[in-house]
Amino acid sequence: MTDLRTTLGEAVATAFVEAGVEGARALVSPSDRPDLADFQSNGALAAAKAMKANPRELATKVAERLAGDARFQSVEVAGPGFINLRLSDTALAERAQAVADDVERAGAEPVGEPRKVVIDYAGPNVAKPMHVGHLRSSIIGESLKRLFRFRGDIVWGDAHFGDWGFQMGLLIVAVGDEGRADAFMAEGEGPFPAQSPVSLDDLERLYPQAAAKAKEDPAYRDRARKATAELQAGRPGYRALWSHFVAVSRTALEREFGALGVTFDLWNGESDADPVMAQMLAELAAKGLLVEDDGARVVHVARPGETRKRKLPDGSTVEAPSPPPLLVVSSEGSAMYGTTDLATILDRKQAIGPDLILYVVDERQAEHFEQVFRAAYLAGYAPAGSLEHLGFGTMNGPDGKPFKTRAGGVLKLHDLISMTVAKARERLREAHLGEGVPAEEFEAIAHTVAVAALKFADLSNSRTTSYVFDLDRFTGFEGKTGPYLLYQAVRIKSLLRKAEGQGAAPGAIRIAEPAERDLALTLDAFAGAVADAYDRRSPHLIAEHVYRLAQSFSKFYAACPVLAAEDEAVRGSRLALAATVLRQLETALELLGIDTPARM
Ligand code: ARG
Repeated sequence: MTDLRTTLGEAVATAFVEAGVEGARALVSPSDRPDLADFQSNGALAAAKAMKANPRELATKVAERLAGDARFQSVEVAGPGFINLRLSDTALAERAQAVADDVERAGAEPVGEPRKVVIDYAGPNVAKPMHVGHLRSSIIGESLKRLFRFRGDIVWGDAHFGDWGFQMGLLIVAVGDEGRADAFMAEGEGPFPAQSPVSLDDLERLYPQAAAKAKEDPAYRDRARKATAELQAGRPGYRALWSHFVAVSRTALEREFGALGVTFDLWNGESDADPVMAQMLAELAAKGLLVEDDGARVVHVARPGETRKRKLPDGSTVEAPSPPPLLVVSSEGSAMYGTTDLATILDRKQAIGPDLILYVVDERQAEHFEQVFRAAYLAGYAPAGSLEHLGFGTMNGPDGKPFKTRAGGVLKLHDLISMTVAKARERLREAHLGEGVPAEEFEAIAHTVAVAALKFADLSNSRTTSYVFDLDRFTGFEGKTGPYLLYQAVRIKSLLRKAEGQGAAPGAIRIAEPAERDLALTLDAFAGAVADAYDRRSPHLIAEHVYRLAQSFSKFYAACPVLAAEDEAVRGSRLALAATVLRQLETALELLGIDTPARM
């Protein structure tokens, strides 16, 4: 089953051939002038240009061939040579019926050949509270995971837990200095206590203190570096203490992600690449890629002549390779952020053999990924073009800078969620929604509304743009918001319940009214939105579609009586349309990671 854009494209392409033009592109798209046409083809313009022919004449020839096709109500040539296509009511009804019958996919086709895709998103860290960058990554990554899976790919969502870098050494030193982990600080083989000596609160309190101290105190920093290197080298007490840090953090993180409806297939950490580290270093060395640099070992990733001016600490500038070399082994012998990323690619190659790895990470890490990807290609760890960094802009405060709390600190995800739920409760009460439902269900509804508000606000912006956090706007039941969409979905659910109560059943879809035509065209457009969102890794195209669908339904509902329709066939058709809209709405929202309540 194919969408109209595609089927009409094929029809126009055939008409070009019949008109004697080979290889012309049909270029069918939704019409710019819905008052005149449903679709238009601009193909004659390009083809005529290539042939040095008159575009209007060519368009007229093609239009004459198409005019005999019963699917069209009219085919007209406009302007310099656009072909305007208006579909017959029957053709629209047929397509709407096909979408209605496609219960699982609401009209969107799967890809021809499934690929193995790893999506690396969220990237939370041990002990460091998650901030809004992690929130965006989680929301966008979760949506992409669902979208790729919906298209038929085999997808692994991986949290890529930050559990291996310098912050681990910092924590070991900080916890050790507090004197409550003596058993772990000893040099022997253990055994070590099975009980964690620290809670999440301890970790969250100690980490910022230790990080600040390391900035000022070089001796402290050196101890943390040494501890990092010893941990990575396998010192048993440090490993045992570290696994407590990891477990304590992960339990808390899973709770937070759970509240957001974000899940992972793999909870691999940076540390999980450790077992392939030795292999990787040997291979890089054997390939001549690993180069000594001032006590450290690096991989040069810039091609000859790729340089950029860089400022030195003394203020002077030099022409330096760009991107800079990837630091693989520090002078203390530690693995760095880039090292674990490179080793993770090797690990994924051996464990999964992905055709594609998508990294959903803040745009500010673009250079890091450029370095890592180039090194991976040089090492032969990934097929050319199979590594993609999907950067995104920041969520900003009213001052246009990355969002902070009123006290000026980074906002913790947990607090953001509670704040949004509180707002959602308030909004529901204002709108007299959820009245009369049991308290527990009301709470669940408020939570669903809050998550929809946050996720839709994020995903309705194109990935790369930054946006301003505006809780009042995000949680409104009017406008382009998550809660508005939930409200529309719930309205249809209640209509369908009422119909069932009255014994009114959905029937065959017929299209007659302008609002029904618009609704049928909108239902058809879901397939294209899904395909484009997938190709461009852009969930906002799905968000656009859901909003358009909700609006189209609203107009239909205002213009076309459903239960009050006199004619039973018309009533049945409209009920079928409503049920189809609901299914597509829920399918699309699910792709955004948004659930809908049964009522509110
Ligand atoms: N933990 C990192 C951070 O907080 C993000 C990890 C992103 N993923 C990756 N493969 N590097 O900045």
